[in-house]
Amino acid sequence: LEREVKVTFEPSGRSVHALPGTVLLEAAARAGFIIQTPCGGAGKCGKCLVRISAGKCLPTDNDRAVLGEARVAEGFRLACQARIQNALTVEIPESSLFQAQQQILTADTKEALEVLPRVRKVYVELPPPTQDEPASDLERLRSRLGSFGVAGIAALRALPGALRQADFKVTAAVVDNELIAIEPGDTTALCYGLAFDIGSTTLVGTLVDLRTGADLALAARVNPQTSFGDDVVSRIQKCRNEKDGLAVLQSAVLDAVNKITDEVLKKSGVDRKNIYEVVFAGNTTMQEILCGIDPSALGELPFVPAFRDSLEMRASDLRLHTHLEAKVYIFPQIGGFVGGDTVAGIIATRLDRATEPALLVDIGTNGEIVLAYEGKLLATSVAAGPAFEGARITNGMRATGGAIEKVILDGDVRLNVIGNVKPTGICGTGLIDVAAEMLRVGILDCTGRIVSAAEAPAALPPAIRARLVEQSGEINFLLVAAAESGTGGPLFLYQKEIRELQLANGAIRAGINILLRMTGLEPKDLGSVLLAGAFGNFIRRNHARRIGMLPPVPCQRIRFVGNTASFGAKRALLSTGEKEYADRVGARVRHVDLSLDPEFQMEFGAAMILPEAEPDECAE
Ligand code: FES
Repeated sequence: LEREVKVTFEPSGRSVHALPGTVLLEAAARAGFIIQTPCGGAGKCGKCLVRISAGKCLPTDNDRAVLGEARVAEGFRLACQARIQNALTVEIPESSLFQAQQQILTADTKEALEVLPRVRKVYVELPPPTQDEPASDLERLRSRLGSFGVAGIAALRALPGALRQADFKVTAAVVDNELIAIEPGDTTALCYGLAFDIGSTTLVGTLVDLRTGADLALAARVNPQTSFGDDVVSRIQKCRNEKDGLAVLQSAVLDAVNKITDEVLKKSGVDRKNIYEVVFAGNTTMQEILCGIDPSALGELPFVPAFRDSLEMRASDLRLHTHLEAKVYIFPQIGGFVGGDTVAGIIATRLDRATEPALLVDIGTNGEIVLAYEGKLLATSVAAGPAFEGARITNGMRATGGAIEKVILDGDVRLNVIGNVKPTGICGTGLIDVAAEMLRVGILDCTGRIVSAAEAPAALPPAIRARLVEQSGEINFLLVAAAESGTGGPLFLYQKEIRELQLANGAIRAGINILLRMTGLEPKDLGSVLLAGAFGNFIRRNHARRIGMLPPVPCQRIRFVGNTASFGAKRALLSTGEKEYADRVGARVRHVDLSLDPEFQMEFGAAMILPEAEPDECAE
């Protein structure tokens, strides 16, 4: 047997034991430290930086290439590359952690909901058995409730005791005509369900009263799978390449789901045994991993999901912290990377019922785009993530504390920073803002080139001109001087990062353009553009349009619809009819695979050009 070695993490002092050969990133995750991995652990981005303060850990070639010899000599390593060989003490800088206070969008649109859940709770007072009437307990119950099946042996085991303990006054919980629980006394008021949005990055759970539709508590967490890579592709690879990869990823997400459950139960005072239904909506990879289904086929042409129709199972199949017999509903999937969260988005917004052509754009690590037109639905997904989520942007970060999330250029640079602290980096919305503002004041041209101080327009305020700094033959934009930053160093927006933004931007726009072209529509024909997702809600729509991410439709037609995956999941939780609607919609959507589309590359190239100023700008 190999001996495990102790790894201690500073500054908390928390430690874990790990087998020699374990990647430091995994050991950190086991100790509860989720380190950010924008490049998916490829050893390229340098964001998973840690320092070995005691013990020996040999540097890798990637360490040397990314960090340089001097930092390697000081003990700095990439957590995604370092393999543990002996006992270590490791410092994790705050900036490497994937912070839990990520700006998570949990508010969803408020609308009347249909409340017709599958679970029915009925209080009955039964006559006790007599010698003349010795019918069985189950028959006695059926004589009142009508015929029903029994979901599992647990409900039957509880029946005799519950009846006698409560003087034959009990409440039966019946789901789809199956008895799942029998409770002493009248508990009809205690009837709850959970709706989950399972994102690649963020998990959101809502505890809902199934009698009224009211939200009782809500909790959100960073998906712990992010410590194994930021995007779905890196997770699929883990499942393909590692024997227990799927099991590790599945238990990571289920563990977080249960922590969210515990949290909402604690906040609301609800007992877990009164949760009878759970609904999950996520992209194809997330849903399949959640269910313990190998998503490997999603990693190769022609990107086939394991199932398309909705799935049903019992809470005990997933070891959920609810009633063991609670019914679990997993949203139907569309194809490729377009999954249950997109179906949930459609039913949340009723996109399929739009009377004019309508576009739903859900921007996350993947961007999902759905076009509704004359009763038809087309959906596609594009890889939008890297720049918006902070990867390949030197000072890029997610929307967490310290991130610049709003930028205005007037006499000088004005910033909004999440958490009201000194800025440590810039998140996706900040990036869009700064690019849009730089275009507006004329220091970024339509090819995405930052102009030099000498080329900048004469009217440019001197304070902004002074921020155009030439470094190694390129012009970079100084966002925050060293003295004002939270890192102690200057925060630049580099020329090459504008290119990354153009790539992400171009992918979304190209996806939109292709769907429009397939239906013969022009942007002006769109009656509405619905922006969804954590990212969408914080985007300033005039800026998203200014940089060409969204087509030129009037800003009034662009609407934020919030976290539609969460809201759609809740709708399905509350109503059998909504579940059937989701199934019907899921079956109707046509999946458009852009990876096979020869025009995509052309559109993509064209969409990288930043548009000229438009006449109808709209202030936010
Ligand atoms: S270098 Fe380690 S995650 Fe990117």
